[in-house]
Amino acid sequence: MPIKLGNKADGEDFFDRVSERDDLWRYLEGNHIVLSGPRRLGKTSLLQRLAEEATEKGMLARLIDVEGIDTVDGFVAELDRAFPDETISGYLKTVGTQVSGVLARFRKVEVKLPGGLGGGLELQAIPDTPWRSTALNLQKRMSGAPLLVLIDEFSVYLEKLLVRDPADAERLLGWLRAWRQQSGLACRFLFSGSIGLNALLARHRLNTRFNDCHDFRLKPFKPAAALAMLTEEARREGWTPVDGSLDYLCQRIGWLSPFYLNLLLVTTIEAARDRLEEAGGAERQIQQSDVDDAYDRLLATRSRFIHWHQRLERDLGEPKLGFTMAILAAVAKADEGLSRRQLLARLQRLEADPDICAERLDDAMLLLEEDGYLDAGSERIRFLSFLLRDYWKRNHAR
Ligand SMILES: Nc1ncnc2c1ncn2[C@@H]1O[C@H](COP(=O)(O)OP(=O)(O)OP(=O)(O)O)[C@@H](O)[C@H]1O
Ligand SMILES: [Mg+2]
Repeated sequence: MPIKLGNKADGEDFFDRVSERDDLWRYLEGNHIVLSGPRRLGKTSLLQRLAEEATEKGMLARLIDVEGIDTVDGFVAELDRAFPDETISGYLKTVGTQVSGVLARFRKVEVKLPGGLGGGLELQAIPDTPWRSTALNLQKRMSGAPLLVLIDEFSVYLEKLLVRDPADAERLLGWLRAWRQQSGLACRFLFSGSIGLNALLARHRLNTRFNDCHDFRLKPFKPAAALAMLTEEARREGWTPVDGSLDYLCQRIGWLSPFYLNLLLVTTIEAARDRLEEAGGAERQIQQSDVDDAYDRLLATRSRFIHWHQRLERDLGEPKLGFTMAILAAVAKADEGLSRRQLLARLQRLEADPDICAERLDDAMLLLEEDGYLDAGSERIRFLSFLLRDYWKRNHAR
């Protein structure tokens, strides 16, 4: 089976995320979750794996992708379709008495809403809208069962809804929030998406609508897990790494996103194959020089990276776009990253007032961090992906 590149990794292609799954199951006992993380870090793959593990955890899970819709009606219909009444009652029948055991383990999500209805539904949370009664019906059907509702591309859907009908978007968020806080709730929600939900909510001043969820930020692979994945994938493809070439591959990727690791491995195998064809020889070995060769090939493929630039052009108007591009150019040119003070000094020519400059930097960093361009976690601000950094240096930082 070829190495997965782009679509979710499932079955044999899914590696690691062991401690993340442990943590998520533990958090789910008492919380709803927002799973955030930069593009292509493996959010959908992880949701899929959680869905598969749900049965043994005593939950009935469905993974719903809401990318294709842009109305609240559509959203409610998706949930309805994913959890039809027969499925829920059938599930409750098959698991029978076990469920009460599971429910006991699942602490209730705390309800502390002023004016809440105690054990009832938060009816006042949905004003009179055309979708009110279907939504409440759905809520009634689903709330008492141990369901795990995994909603992927929620941020993409919400962004569209905010453009189409901002008032309805607010009503939806209000309803979902009240639902999540309903007392005695057995079902759990996990929201994810390929654009940053927190940055989107911040842009629309709606952060408070999700502050009841636990924010779980997905991180890259640890070195040992990255190496184990690459070693197994190379073995399956029939190639033998020599001279620590897979360790070296990890070093060149820097930030160990499984997608970039897989991308560089696939390209490295192609480079190794081309080398064999040119020089002759039958030993299917991966050498360090193949990794370097592949890295250069990738950097030259604009289509791999162009969406990172297009995203900014689409989402930001001037003067924010120019300022954001200046930040990225300055950081790309510094291999070790820049301290905040160094970065501010380089931005001075765009904004002379130091206080306003700092404010504009903080504002831009919100998006750049959430969407996985830059990392400001340590002393220095730097690109997460070395590949993206080198691409940016070559194409946008002259
Ligand atoms: N656990 C994993 N094991 C192996 N490969 C993985 C894993 N997670 C992610 N990948 C790699 O990353 C690619 C993208 O994974 P996935 O679609 O799950 O990411 P995503 O975060 O949902 O992306 P997007 O932000 O575009 O929605 C996969 O095709 C695969 O190459
Ligand atoms: Mg995804």
